[in-house]
Amino acid sequence: MRTLLVLCLCLYVAWAQDNLEYDDYDMDTVTSSGSKTNETVDARGHRPNTGNRDRYNAPRNNPPPVSGSSRYRGRPTTTSVERSVVQEKKEQPEAGGCTHPSEELGVLCPNGCELKTMLLKQEKNVKTSINELKPQVDDLSQSSNNVFNYVNSISNTLRERQIVINDNNRVVSQYTDSVEEQHVYIKETVDTVFPSNIRVLQGVLDKIRLKIQKLEKAIQAQREECKEPCKTTCPIPVVSGKECEDVFRRGGRDSQMYLIQPDAFYPAYKVFCDQTTQNGGWLLIQNRLDGSVEFGRRWDEYRRGFGNIALDSGKGHCETPGEYWLGNDRISQVTKMGPTEVLIEMQDWTGAKVHAQYQQFTVQSETSNYILAVDGYTGNAGNCFLEGSVELFGENRTMTIHNGMMFSTYDRDNDNWNPGNPSKQCSKEDGGGWWYNRCHSANPNGRYYMGGSYTAQMAKHGTDDGVVWMNWKGSWYSLKAISMKIRPFFVPQ
Ligand SMILES: *[C@@H]1O[C@H](CO)[C@@H](O)[C@H](O)[C@H]1NC(C)=O
Ligand SMILES: *[C@@H]1O[C@H](CO)[C@@H](O)[C@H](O)[C@H]1NC(C)=O
Repeated sequence: MRTLLVLCLCLYVAWAQDNLEYDDYDMDTVTSSGSKTNETVDARGHRPNTGNRDRYNAPRNNPPPVSGSSRYRGRPTTTSVERSVVQEKKEQPEAGGCTHPSEELGVLCPNGCELKTMLLKQEKNVKTSINELKPQVDDLSQSSNNVFNYVNSISNTLRERQIVINDNNRVVSQYTDSVEEQHVYIKETVDTVFPSNIRVLQGVLDKIRLKIQKLEKAIQAQREECKEPCKTTCPIPVVSGKECEDVFRRGGRDSQMYLIQPDAFYPAYKVFCDQTTQNGGWLLIQNRLDGSVEFGRRWDEYRRGFGNIALDSGKGHCETPGEYWLGNDRISQVTKMGPTEVLIEMQDWTGAKVHAQYQQFTVQSETSNYILAVDGYTGNAGNCFLEGSVELFGENRTMTIHNGMMFSTYDRDNDNWNPGNPSKQCSKEDGGGWWYNRCHSANPNGRYYMGGSYTAQMAKHGTDDGVVWMNWKGSWYSLKAISMKIRPFFVPQ
């Protein structure tokens, strides 16, 4: 089950990498650049000149933001022992002999005459018996000789074998010695090296086990959450309008998802309206807040828009904005309707917040690659769009100004860094689609880094590809949250 899980994770990682198309072109050319210098504090953003042919062309004359009078007027202001049996032996008289003098006991010895005849008779018998026995004795002697010889030969054989045995013992002992040596070595190894290695591996295993348990818990939690199909049903509020200011004026005073239709010739679409900040009326066109949506995307995706407009956190309506990019066509269309202001709000990982606001913000149509035009800065984040990075000087700073830039994505290079040279593209190095110059002082669509500070070694290409706003936190701090909201500009009453 666990191995299966790990396998799944590996497959997922491989799959996820396959998907990051914009990164897979030259992963090895990049890693060296970061280690040599104290880059964590250096300002990056720009790409300095490297030779004669590498010249920076200052921005052209671009159309200014739409200005002039608004169609709106100001409004009021929300884990036996075995027993041995000893048998007594009875003394018995010996059978047939003069064993006892007492008459009572009845056994009498024979007289002398009888004894002689008996003996003569017996002698004859004995002689014959002896004669009969002689050959047998000879036989026996003969056979005992044989036995002797046999025993002798066996002894010889035994001696010879003894010799062989001794030889064998020598061999065996040598062998035993070497076996003992090896045993000692192996024992040492097993007693010292192995245990420590095993301890280390055990530690590693324990950590992995812990991580797997955490992952299993997380997966379990996700499974629970996903038992029911995700509800993306956001009830659409009754109130709608041309954009969020219009919605506000028609009574849509809660910050949530609304349906808007800026132009009667195109279908209506969903957006998140912030109806509280600075008296509301703000249409959210860009939002980063948790890294849940990938922003390294193609031209077409930036044109149409991507991400999650809004979520329902249990209140019955979609009052929480997701991470998204509204889409260049829509942004362009809305900003061209009339004078539009943009509010860029950002937050670091300690919760501190700052903002930058431009009273005039216009994005031209696709035919002109969505050229950006802003004016009228106010706020405390720093004026990246118009002034570039204040850490840089001269031409280096000019290279980081965004105003007047065309939009670039990793598959469409419109930046000011050696145009036409595919190895010098800001969007490929800096992570997102944006109005890159050469390259940026602000990178709101960059890679999302948890915790804020990151280094050139952590970045895919050694560049400051985080969610950066140089004039507030520098090149090597990726913001926790940033959003861009637009509203028709009007003079408050
Ligand atoms: C980088 O340089 C700054 C001063 O310029 C210094 O304070 C900092 O300790 C240096 N960091 C490293 C990692 O060398
Ligand atoms: C521009 O940047 C390069 C390298 O970062 C530096 O060598 C050069 O002096 C800078 N130019 C100015 C005008 O600061």
